[in-house]
Amino acid sequence: MTASPSPEVPVLLRTRRELRAHLDQVRAAGRSIGLVPTMGYLHEGHLSLVDRALEEADHALLSIFVNPLQFAPGEDLDRYPRDLEGDLRKAGARGVHAVFAPSREEMYPGGEPVLRISPGPMGTHLCGRSRPTHFPGVLTVVCRLFGLVRPQVAVFGRKDLQQSLLVRRMVRDLELGVAVEVVAPVRESDGLALSSRNAYLAPEDRARAPELQRALEAARQRWQAGETDARRLVEGVRAHLDGVEGLEVDYVELVDTDLLQPVEEAREGHALAGAIHLGPTRLIDNVLLRPEPDPRPAGAHARSDEVSEQRSGRVGGAEARSGDDSGARSVDVARAHAGEGLPGGRG
Ligand code: PAJ
Repeated sequence: MTASPSPEVPVLLRTRRELRAHLDQVRAAGRSIGLVPTMGYLHEGHLSLVDRALEEADHALLSIFVNPLQFAPGEDLDRYPRDLEGDLRKAGARGVHAVFAPSREEMYPGGEPVLRISPGPMGTHLCGRSRPTHFPGVLTVVCRLFGLVRPQVAVFGRKDLQQSLLVRRMVRDLELGVAVEVVAPVRESDGLALSSRNAYLAPEDRARAPELQRALEAARQRWQAGETDARRLVEGVRAHLDGVEGLEVDYVELVDTDLLQPVEEAREGHALAGAIHLGPTRLIDNVLLRPEPDPRPAGAHARSDEVSEQRSGRVGGAEARSGDDSGARSVDVARAHAGEGLPGGRG
């Protein structure tokens, strides 16, 4: 079919018109659409989302757009790394069918949106506190992408915990009818979560960067050994990080994974999240309090099985895929992880 000639060569869509024509063909062929929103400079973390999209939908569409709405003045919008050619190659090799990479004008014809979607109480802690305009920008662009693409499934990384839970909540609260899949962080062999921003790190900062994950994982182990005082766990992470030269803590918080509010008593399913500055680079990471650590890097990419969101049937006139068992599997995964606290399952 012309909409997806070969998984090796993703169709590059630069305009909304091209996107619409492409999606019309995909839908006409009865194929379900899995969307992977990114800002490009793809790495194995992004590609693990592609893997999930291809498991959950027939057609994988990856978007690349460095969204100005989610950067505050003085943040790294202008120097955010870009490599469209490399991204197309990586995406194609992984089976992505189409890449939507609009210009700013294509994404926001007529200027930036007047309305912004508010994260409400879910934005008052963690990154929402340090970057108050960030999540309104993220939610607005994600909602716009959902409107443009009308996917059956969209895949996000739990590396950005607050973002993934906000998107899931937005879909639920606004009845957007997209199944939101959340995938565990993919890490380097020393534990550092992959991030496009790791490219900024000077060698000495790169060597320090894994301390964030080490500190969070050490706290998870303390919790597992019986420590439930959230304040002591958070202080332990801070003390660990304060001992690392050149590293500045932005926040360390232990929150529930429903409204992302700080808790006093650490329980299974809560999340311990942190953000640090290393020189000019800001890095984030998190661990879920559960009996086992995050999947360790097993070579290229850690398969993950976080939680599944509702599979909501008709989206934008297209029928959700049927005829295989992945819907049932997703529900099983949601059930298996129900105790983790990441709100999933059917909303
Ligand atoms: P970006 O930082 O490019 O990330 C795109 C997606 O990849 C997000 O869902 C993010 O959580 C996921 N991701 C990043 N690093 C990961 C890792 N190490 N393991 C697994 N997944 C990882 O997040 C954004 O872009 C933007 O805010 C966006 C959602 C595209 C809206 O502009």
